[in-house]
Formats: sequence, C-alpha cells, structure tokens
Amino acid sequence: MSVPVAGRAAPGAGASTWHAAWLPPAAFRALGARNVLVHGDGPLVDTVLDEVTQACARHGGRVWHSPPWDVDADLVLASRAAGPIANAAAEAARLGATPAVDGTGDGSLGDEGFLLARVDGVTVVLADAPAGLLYGLFHVVRLGAAAFDDDRPARRHQPALARRILDHWDNVAVHPVSGQVERGYSGGSVFWRDGAARGEPDRIRDYGRLLAACGVNAVTVNNVNVHDTEARLLTDRLDEVAGIADVLRPYGIRVHLSVTFAAPVVLGGLPTADPLDDRVRAWWAEATRRVYRRIPDFGGYLVKADSEGRPGPFAYGRDHADGANLLAGALAPHDGVVRWRAFVYDHRQDWRDRSTDRARAAHDHFAPLDGRFRDNVIVQVKFGPVDFQPREPVSPVLAAMPATRLAVELQVTQEYTGQQRHVCHLGPAWSEVLRFAPWGAAGDSIADVITRGGLVAVSNVGDDPFWTGHPLAQANLYAFGRLAWDPRLDPGAILDEWIGLTWLPVTMGDPELVRRTLHAIMDDSWRTYERYTAPLGVGFMVRPGHHYGPDVDGYEYTPWGTYHFADRDGVGVDRTRATGTGFTGQYPQPWSEVYESLRRCPDDLLLFFHHVPYGHVLHSGRTVIQHIYDTHFAGVEEVAAMRERWRLLAGAFEPAAHQRVAERLDEQLRCAVEWRDQVNTYFFRKSGVPDAHGRRIH
Ligand code: GCU
Repeated sequence: MSVPVAGRAAPGAGASTWHAAWLPPAAFRALGARNVLVHGDGPLVDTVLDEVTQACARHGGRVWHSPPWDVDADLVLASRAAGPIANAAAEAARLGATPAVDGTGDGSLGDEGFLLARVDGVTVVLADAPAGLLYGLFHVVRLGAAAFDDDRPARRHQPALARRILDHWDNVAVHPVSGQVERGYSGGSVFWRDGAARGEPDRIRDYGRLLAACGVNAVTVNNVNVHDTEARLLTDRLDEVAGIADVLRPYGIRVHLSVTFAAPVVLGGLPTADPLDDRVRAWWAEATRRVYRRIPDFGGYLVKADSEGRPGPFAYGRDHADGANLLAGALAPHDGVVRWRAFVYDHRQDWRDRSTDRARAAHDHFAPLDGRFRDNVIVQVKFGPVDFQPREPVSPVLAAMPATRLAVELQVTQEYTGQQRHVCHLGPAWSEVLRFAPWGAAGDSIADVITRGGLVAVSNVGDDPFWTGHPLAQANLYAFGRLAWDPRLDPGAILDEWIGLTWLPVTMGDPELVRRTLHAIMDDSWRTYERYTAPLGVGFMVRPGHHYGPDVDGYEYTPWGTYHFADRDGVGVDRTRATGTGFTGQYPQPWSEVYESLRRCPDDLLLFFHHVPYGHVLHSGRTVIQHIYDTHFAGVEEVAAMRERWRLLAGAFEPAAHQRVAERLDEQLRCAVEWRDQVNTYFFRKSGVPDAHGRRIH
C-alpha cells in the first residue's frame, strides 16, 4: 500500500517568516530518492512516516507503511514492538541481538536507541521504541548517500545521556528589564508574545523537529526567573503549557516548567512556603497531580531558589535539600524530576571583602548536602564555578556529590560569548568540559558523572527568521544536542555534520569551498573570542547589565563577586589555599594541586587561580603582559580574516543569509577592536610596560 502525502505543510519547509535551519528539504535527497518501508504504529512512527512521505514525494522515492513485505525497499525503518518484520529487518534484528555489534550491550536498544545495519543491499534501521525510530531516521538523513554504502558495518546507537534538555529563559509577559527572552539574542520567544501563548504550532513543530534531529528530548518553556505571570503556568495557565506539549510530543520532546518556590503563597494563598509544612506539601502534591492529569508525560520542574533574589527555603531556616525534596515528593508518584539549580551565591557581596569568593559558593552550599536529595532530584550545576564565562575551570561541585544525580548546565545563548553577534562556535569548549577528568586521566570524566542527571543548556532560539539571530549560531544548538547524545563526539566532526545538513549551496558552485570556509571561520572561533576578551581565565570585563562589549573595571567595585584585582603590579584572583580564598581545595587530586601550583596551573586558567605580576612568565614563554597584548592583536586579526573568508562565499547562499552573517562580522570586528584597545590600553596604563613589538596602544 502506498501512503498518500499527508495534508499539511512539508516538515522543515518553514512558514514565510522563518528559514529552514538544518534539514531543509534538500537534506533529504538521498533518502527521498529511494524506496522506503516504515513499520510500526503510534504518534512517533507517524512522524517518521510523515517525514519519509514528504521526502519521497519531493525526490521521487516511494513509501510503504508496514506489510506487505515483498516490496523492493532500499531502506526499512522498523519498530521491533510492532510485530513480524521484513526479512532484512529480521536479519538486522538478529545482528542487533548479538552483543558483537559494537562490542557492548545485550542487544536491547532501549527507549531511544536504534540499530543501523546494511543487510543484502537494504539499509535497515531497527528500534525497540518509536523514539529510536525517529532518531534512526534523522541519522540516516545525516549520513546522506553514505547510509546506503554496502560496506557499512552494523552499529547500535544509544544516547549516553537520557536527559538532553534545553531551558528557555522565555518570559510570557515582556519583563521591564529582561524583555521577552532573558539573555535572548534572537528576537522574541517562539512560545510567548506580550503576555500570551503565541499560538503558532507550525513554528513550534518545526523547532521540535530541529531539536529531535540533533537529539534534544526535553524543553523548559519558561525562564528560571519566574515572575508573576509565568508563575501561573503551573495552575490556571496550564492549558498553554499543555498546548506546547501537544505540538512537541510527536518529535519525542517532553515539556518542563520553571516554577517559583513561593508558589504556595503567590498562587495558593497559603501564609508560608516552608518545605516542612504539611499544607505546603499538600499544595504541591495537588498542583502536581493537576499538571499530570493535563500533561501525562510532563517532564518536571526547574527551580532557581535562594539565588539572585529568588525565593527559596532559606527564608524558613531550611536548606536546599529540604526545598528540593519537597518538590521531588510531589513529582515522585508521576515519575517526574525536579531540577534544582546549584547557582547560589551572595550577589550582595562587599567588593572590599577579599575573603568572600563567589567561585566557592556552590560547593560550600551543596557539597555538604550530598546524600540528602531524593532520587528524583537532579542538582543542575553550571559548568564553571562562576557564570558561563568563555573560559572557566570545571565546577568542583561536579566532583563532590557522588550520591546525587547531577546535571551540567551550559549556555547556548551567547550571553558572555558575543551575544550571537559574534561567531563563537562553542562545541570545542563544551567538549573540553565533558571530557574533563576531575580525578585524573584514569578516572571518570564529567560525561560519566552526569549519566544519571543529564546535559542541559540555555537555548539560543527565538522568533528571528534565522532562529538564532546569527545564522552560524545554529551550529551551537546543533552541537549541544549531538554532544548530549554522545559526549565523545569530536566537535569538528559535529560542525561538519551541521554544515552538511544546513548549508546546501543554492548555486551548487563548490560545496567543498563552502565546507572548508565554514570550518576555517568557525573551528577556532571560540579561542579567537577568548583572545580578544578577558585574558587567561580571569573572566568578566564586560559591560555591566547587558554584558556586551568591554568594560575592564565594569564589575570591579560592584557587589557581584566578579573581580580581576588588577593594580600597577599584577592581575588575577588568588584562589589558592596557601594565600588566597582556598577555592583550589574544593577540587580532588590531582587538580587541587595542579591549580594550587603557580608552576603547574594551565596558562589559560592562570588568572582564575592566581594573582601574578605582569612579568610572570607563562608556559608559553611569554610574560603575562606580553600575552595580553599579543592575543588581543591576534584576536582582531583573526576576526578580520573571518570576514574576508565569508566574502568569498557571496553568491553561494541565499543572499539574505549571506548578508546577515556579513553584517554581524562587521560588528564583530568593530567590537573586537574595541575589546583589544580597551584591554591593551588598560593594562598598559596600569603596568607601564610597553608592547615588545611597539604596536599602537592608546
Ligand atoms: C546570569 C544571567 C542572568 C541569569 C542567571 C541565572 O547571571 O546574567 O540573566 O538569570 O545567570 O543563571 O540564573
């Protein structure tokens, strides 16, 4: 039976107001030109069928849904749960049941895994559950024609992390300070506008599709800073959340909600939100029951408590475990989780007080609570100890709570990495975090530590026509999903996938030139960004408030705890045990010693851990001051080179996309020059040390 084309817009075709990101229709060419058999039932299989149907209609292939089996298929996508399967699929099932495939496992493919095999001239994707079939489909698309190579070995694919979550810092009502999307650089929210749900299911569905195609399986629909309007999403505005959940469900994406700890007071009219009060417990239990009645596959709550002024358990003399366990208790009967953020510090610190160290705060608060959290609590830890800086050491909290489920939080939205006006490909930075081995090379990595908690990131998507403001910032969203699926992936290879799936040149001039040029611009762009901004891991130096562009002393005399302590003799924060704040002592060996030691501390984190004279000689052989000058000059030159490279691609793409990137590169260059000149001038004036190469410093 041939399946008719479903009667709605082609997936990924996009409405007129937004562009396709990865997976434009042309990305399905290899698959869509073939004969495809889809076997299975249910909403996610319908999604697979719909995708395949659209692709085949466009590229000349054929589609069958389930039996008969005697069709001449090039590709079989089969769910093992759906009963008898075609010969090739049966053979693949046999292969899949053999632990020898990939050398691991018992043959089961899990809730989201799939087996990809080539059997007797047929490519077979086999899954135990429909979500696996969906991920398998997108993997075939990613491989393109190579998915049909006869020498392709059978391979089982399963996500390393079950939780791969994007948190949207979207407000329902436009907030007077943070706007529609807090730290959003891509226009408005895809979910909300001016106090109401946007009601644009097509856009949300297309977004869900992009996420599924890179492996993301959950989304939080509102900001961690839960204001009055957004608090009500939990109760009388729950239908709006359910509406989003309905649209995302066919792409295997579950919805989470940020809630305010004060909800029992602000929504329930109780006199207290004390986590040990029975009325409070009953209120959360009932509110949560109602959520699950309306959204049976609801994922859970995200909470920012006792952090930057948000309400929390401290007001009642309770701690974070009491608070988190309260919500965990309400969620447990429904298999939901509470993600409780470890981003807790004193944001009203006296800058004169050198003993308080913001970097210490999360560990000081949370490490002593290890073992006290219920099993459905995930403590969500920012990757570094301070706040999403371009370079930070990995948070020591991640090595300090073996009895707690931990998640790492990354920032895809580029608050501190150029706000989607700068090209800054973050895959390499995240890969370093995930590969970091807190107990030394022989021990677990961060990717191992978070297996039970997951990988989370703040989304960079908005209603901008290119989804992410800067079209090249889409690569960060894609890389996040892929690294959450498999943290061992090489970031350069991920970028290559994204290029292949996204930038299909309209002129077909020279795809290899496109690929090469994008790599040349993007591969090292995070390090370039690092070169022209705050040096050697010291962080900040951004303009207060909006955090764009340089202001070396912008935060130096503020209560926020982000200082560099530059004076005429030197710069950096002494976080040693010997003479500083003792933060290095929060790490296990070997890092505790490595970071403590001026001699062994890696150059790129030197000023995070040590206050040193400008003449201090780095491992690179350069002095700190000369390093500052050299990297700032080099960073600007690299941005200028990026801009020239991009010019070469004029005509290779749709003009609007080319022009958008070109404009942003102009701005990046302007801003990089500003960074260079302010940072170099600042340190020249402080130190009085001239540039060894006599370049112009103001
Ligand atoms: C940063 C960011 C805030 C955000 C906070 C958080 O400080 O600037 O906008 O609310 O992180 O992660 O909660």
